[in-house]
Amino acid sequence: MERIREDFPILAQTVFGKPLVYLDNAATAQKPRAVIDALTRYYALDNANIHRGLHQLSERSTAAYEETRAKVRRFLNAAEDREILFVRGTTEAINLVASSYGRPRVGRGDEVLITTMEHHSNIVPWQMLCEEKGARLRVAPINDDGELLLDEFEKLLGPATRIVSMAHVSNALGTVNPIRRIVEMAHRRNIPVLVDGAQAAPHFPVDVRALDCDFYALSGHKLFGPTGIGVLYGKAALLEAMPPYQGGGDMIASVTFEKTIYNRLPHKFEAGTPDIAGVIGLGAALDYLASLETEGRAAHEEDLLDHATRTLAAIPRVRIVGRAKQKTGVVSFIVEGVHPHDIGTILDREGIAIRAGHHCAQPLMERFGVPATARASLALYNTHREIDALGSGVRKVLEVFR
Ligand SMILES: Cc1ncc(COP(=O)(O)O)c(C=O)c1O
Repeated sequence: MERIREDFPILAQTVFGKPLVYLDNAATAQKPRAVIDALTRYYALDNANIHRGLHQLSERSTAAYEETRAKVRRFLNAAEDREILFVRGTTEAINLVASSYGRPRVGRGDEVLITTMEHHSNIVPWQMLCEEKGARLRVAPINDDGELLLDEFEKLLGPATRIVSMAHVSNALGTVNPIRRIVEMAHRRNIPVLVDGAQAAPHFPVDVRALDCDFYALSGHKLFGPTGIGVLYGKAALLEAMPPYQGGGDMIASVTFEKTIYNRLPHKFEAGTPDIAGVIGLGAALDYLASLETEGRAAHEEDLLDHATRTLAAIPRVRIVGRAKQKTGVVSFIVEGVHPHDIGTILDREGIAIRAGHHCAQPLMERFGVPATARASLALYNTHREIDALGSGVRKVLEVFR
């Protein structure tokens, strides 16, 4: 663990004179030196635009960019490199599907099915599409532990459902959804499924072919990579049938003023100069993850979550929000009589970074009857000692707000 922590330079600092305890990993994860070095190396040695120059630097940049596509393909176990599209993040990936897949296929009276536990980025793009088309957004309910009610979900799948879009892991609750079963239910009715994997990919291996999902979205910055880069996986047959999301350079095969012939996959969906450095940094993050021992990492993260849950649950006036049997990475909680923002501020003075707010999931907060929660979110470099510091910090909150 100490060796892993040394790979993340930011963790070595103090905040208000206390060792930094970074427990806001669901918002964004810290970057290992390998990623930071890859970015510096790229700008210092290789910087050039891709896919167009015939010179050395452009060839090197293009090769590194396309090698990362192959790394992502392996990371997700996708069938082909052309099924991997680089986008800005999960938000852009979902907007791309809502626009390019949704617009031509969703019409008046049709339905899009999501769940109560979605991040705003998996609500608003569908709401915008439904408004434009006169379609209806349906929402599958959850129980008080924050688990999807599968029977209710299945009842909402009908002849009008055009697509299901849902989180693999909830950012506000940590619930892990049974995506394989959900895909089976949807596919039996020929309904495609988009999985928002923003909070899943940082915690466990994802196999898009085993899940058989149609689209899978993730954000590089939550996966120990740079900000501004993300991935949309889509089955080739679906991506082939979809129109481009944006027009511009690189996404064309030929252009006249009368007509443009679009480029082949994946370039059809990557208009303009992409975030080349971001892609290369993401590649370095995936290499870094691949260098870690998977089973030991999973056991460590499971142990951390268990320790965090027990530590917080043992404190008077603390209520944990989200007690699903299958959880990863997140403990959301409230302290009776204290606003979550005050919890966040007091913990900050102890050097502890958590998130306090609605976590871009206001409808979910409403479901639990709270305006906000405090959220500790974990990553592979967190330790038992840090969880103990969180416990002591929350006990201090109780002293301040007696
Ligand atoms: C479950 C989930 N979906 C989508 C997003 C949006 O990701 P981004 O802001 O990187 O596009 C987040 C970010 O917190 C998330 O947790």
